[in-house]
Amino acid sequence: HKLWGGRFAGGPSPLLEAINRSIGVDFRLWPHDVRLSKAWAVALWHAGVLSLEESRELERGLDVVAERIAAGEQPTASDEDVHTLIDRLLHDAVGSVASKLHTGRSRNDQVATATRLWTIDACQRIDAAARELQQVLLARAESLQDALMPAYTHLQRAQPVSASHWLLSHFWPLERDRRRLAAAAHGASELPLGAGAIAGSAFPVSRVLLKESLGFQAVARNSIDAVGDRDFVAEALFAIAMMGTHLSRLAEDLILFGSSEFGFVRFGDGFSTGSSMMPQKRNPDALELARGSAARLLGDLVSMLGALKGLPTGYNKDLQDDKRALFDAVDTILLVLPAVAGTLDELTFETARMQAALSSTMMATDLADYLVRKGATFRESHGAVGALVRQAEVQGVELYELPYDAFRAAHALFAEDVFDALSPRSSVAHREAIGGTGPTAVREQLEAALLADAPPAVSRETPVHGNELIANVVAA
Ligand code: ARG
Repeated sequence: HKLWGGRFAGGPSPLLEAINRSIGVDFRLWPHDVRLSKAWAVALWHAGVLSLEESRELERGLDVVAERIAAGEQPTASDEDVHTLIDRLLHDAVGSVASKLHTGRSRNDQVATATRLWTIDACQRIDAAARELQQVLLARAESLQDALMPAYTHLQRAQPVSASHWLLSHFWPLERDRRRLAAAAHGASELPLGAGAIAGSAFPVSRVLLKESLGFQAVARNSIDAVGDRDFVAEALFAIAMMGTHLSRLAEDLILFGSSEFGFVRFGDGFSTGSSMMPQKRNPDALELARGSAARLLGDLVSMLGALKGLPTGYNKDLQDDKRALFDAVDTILLVLPAVAGTLDELTFETARMQAALSSTMMATDLADYLVRKGATFRESHGAVGALVRQAEVQGVELYELPYDAFRAAHALFAEDVFDALSPRSSVAHREAIGGTGPTAVREQLEAALLADAPPAVSRETPVHGNELIANVVAA
């Protein structure tokens, strides 16, 4: 069963068939291909190409095809791609009337349409999984508002922050990712069907009717562009690669914090693995795989962009590989998101270890700010505190172990209350400007995070289907 071949005297080489066959990748498009085919059957009736009976027979046949595939029907070696498979099964179901369905359409507009429908669904599924990870981050952040820990720059202890503040620093990137996904889904919501192979359909199909019945937001305005445009795939792949990159950074933070050297978190049983040799090991494999997966996601994006670069206008077979990259990225991120959420959910935070890591030099900025509040300039305060840090370092003591005289000698504006300025809690308490780590600012941030809920990936109107649609058109 082939969709082409009349013009060839000989059959295709098995080698051509091997490189050309895409059923192994695109099989999963079948529900969307069935759906758009049903809409196409209605559009052909509306255009006067099919009788109402024929159109209904094709719709019924496509339902049978969907049931058969859902029940486990497998492709055969001769099925070049998912479109060929569905066409073959449709012939099985309804006989020769099946040959009328491909009137005025091409696999070029068909595959672009099915891939767009699949992408819109995928964006919604990823969005839901990202949201679940965000909920875990929020729940953990809620309970850690009083815990203090070091924040790092250059991976050197920098300043104390609340542990909630650190956790929420991983919430907002996901929020931006979800917005990018929504934009990608919006970009995918332009209907190519009706563009034919390249020049448009020669039959007067209503593309508006098709757009409405398939739930697209717009109709692609140029048939040449419609069959060759894979921007939506690249956009989805970028959103996913960015999300994977964010997750790799969260994973890396947790892997570091779970090492004995940090000891800020302990991994649970559900998402840790052991070693075949070292009985003591508890390894954060899920996080390492999340970190590593970001590389593949980047590769998927680059392979799509690489295929598009310099491609001649219109459909070219290079585009067949769009789905390989897209499906791999979506499958990967849908494994990574729940694994990271699960790991985070069962972590134990060792708040005493976090607190113990707050060495007093981390409050050096607070000491300088103290002098500024007493009237010194920041430059001069910075110098005075630097000298104190050097003394403490030379003597091998914490800043608060230096004698009061040492502070007085460093700057005349130091008074007895200087030791309060050396407490991590007061350091944090001073940082109440919006976005800071002060307790009120963090509470407000948590509230903002709870409210922030990016719009669903795409608002698709419930599509009106087949016979129901015909009834509407007949009534109008
Ligand atoms: N399997 C093809 C793809 O995924 C379908 C489109 C084929 N078009 C063609 N002109 N051969 O891109």
